[in-house]
Amino acid sequence: MALTSIALTPRIGSEVRLDKAALLAGDHAADIRELLVSRGALVFRGLHLNDEELRTVARSLGDLRIGSAKRGADGKVLTEGDRGVLKVSLDPKVNPDYAKFLFGNLLWHMDGTYEPVPPFATLFTPARLSREGGDTMFASTYAAFEDLPQAEQDDLATLRVVHTMQAALFPAKRDCTAEEFAVWSSYPQRSHPLVWQHKSGRRSLVLSTSGAWVEEMHPAESHDLLQRLMLHATQDRYTYRHKWTPGDLAIWDNTGTMHRAMPFEAGSTREFHRCTLNGEEPITAPDLASARAAATVA
Ligand code: OGA
Ligand code: MN
Repeated sequence: MALTSIALTPRIGSEVRLDKAALLAGDHAADIRELLVSRGALVFRGLHLNDEELRTVARSLGDLRIGSAKRGADGKVLTEGDRGVLKVSLDPKVNPDYAKFLFGNLLWHMDGTYEPVPPFATLFTPARLSREGGDTMFASTYAAFEDLPQAEQDDLATLRVVHTMQAALFPAKRDCTAEEFAVWSSYPQRSHPLVWQHKSGRRSLVLSTSGAWVEEMHPAESHDLLQRLMLHATQDRYTYRHKWTPGDLAIWDNTGTMHRAMPFEAGSTREFHRCTLNGEEPITAPDLASARAAATVA
């Protein structure tokens, strides 16, 4: 069976129509990966994947993550759920260690910006929906970059941003305790280029609420720049908002998109099962000198 896809918005998001057996067999894995990078986020309907099937699809597309970059209350490294399937829920009974971090999912972010090589992609399927709200939104940081004027693209390509856990979580929990803030602050900070030259040839902005400051820039200028880029990248024309129905599967390219959960009722039992695919390339800034030389030759 051939893979058919329908664009959900002009710049980001496609719905893929594919028979479940063909998806599980991995027949179209190369096409799905290509579509994922060109469309940023893919949605499949009516699949109703169980955990083992979710792992199978994940393994067909990349390197399924088993470990995790986060630590539990005892300081030990957390594992990424059950053999690579993490339960994403704010209910501490479902996921006592992760519930302490996942409220940050309500803000625009990329996953794993504290890591040297952020995850390539995430697979996400609902186990239980919220009663109200709880859509997931995706924003294309490829499209947002591509639309900037050339001179600004070149300027941004020279900058680096420091990503921190405090920057990611504090705005989502301003009433945090001093202890919580201290735990977030104990995580390593990570500096990444602001513009990513992907092996695929595409370029994207490396933006996330975790982006705390631009290196070697006055704090006020840095704050204003990051805010302006975040507003630019999350305009309607770069985003797709997914309303979940049971059985859906979404996959996002974590390297060229941001995502966020939309608010849902307090005390919700909303739960998703998630597989993460390990990153395949470090964030590399464009080589401006060779880009200019190529432009001159052309
Ligand atoms: C995540 C995430 C968004 C959502 O699991 O990394 O950001 O809608 N989830 O729950
Ligand atoms: Mn996330």
